[in-house]
Amino acid sequence: MALQQTFAMIKPDAVANNHLGKIAALMEANGLKIVAMKMLKLSEATAKELYVEHLERPFFPSLLGFITSGPVVVLVLEGDDAITRYRTLMGATKPIDADIGTIRNLYADHHQEDSVMMNAVHGSDSLESAVREIKVFFTPDEICS
Ligand code: RTP
Ligand code: MG
Repeated sequence: MALQQTFAMIKPDAVANNHLGKIAALMEANGLKIVAMKMLKLSEATAKELYVEHLERPFFPSLLGFITSGPVVVLVLEGDDAITRYRTLMGATKPIDADIGTIRNLYADHHQEDSVMMNAVHGSDSLESAVREIKVFFTPDEICS
């Protein structure tokens, strides 16, 4: 297994609901070392840069409103097979479909009426995305690998 870095974000719903510490603890307990971390409020420009692949999707305006609605915590996680390992720990995009024990099962609202998916966390979905997304938020000297 390869040692990898991946980009993670604890979204505004989870920060507002005081789940930040519990989510970070789950990451650490699952072989993902936190090597960089900061709290910030996303600007529209940064949110568009992060979610560039979704700019034309019908849900994008809702996603943009949600993701800029309050503070988030951005992290770089390092570990063996970190990209897939963290995607598995996150659970399915739709919280009601997320496996028991995953972050989205434990810390996202399963009963949303809204079309916006407030699903607690983001994670890079490939090596290419991880490299790109880490660079959106961190300079090399901010990563304590
Ligand atoms: P993420 O990028 O945030 O880690 O989530 P993901 O890979 O599991 O899901 P993705 O398809 O990349 O979607 C990005 C985020 O957009 C919101 N979304 N809303 N209303 C909808 O149909 C819809 N679909 C996606 C979610 O917040 C999702 O995490
Ligand atoms: Mg995604």
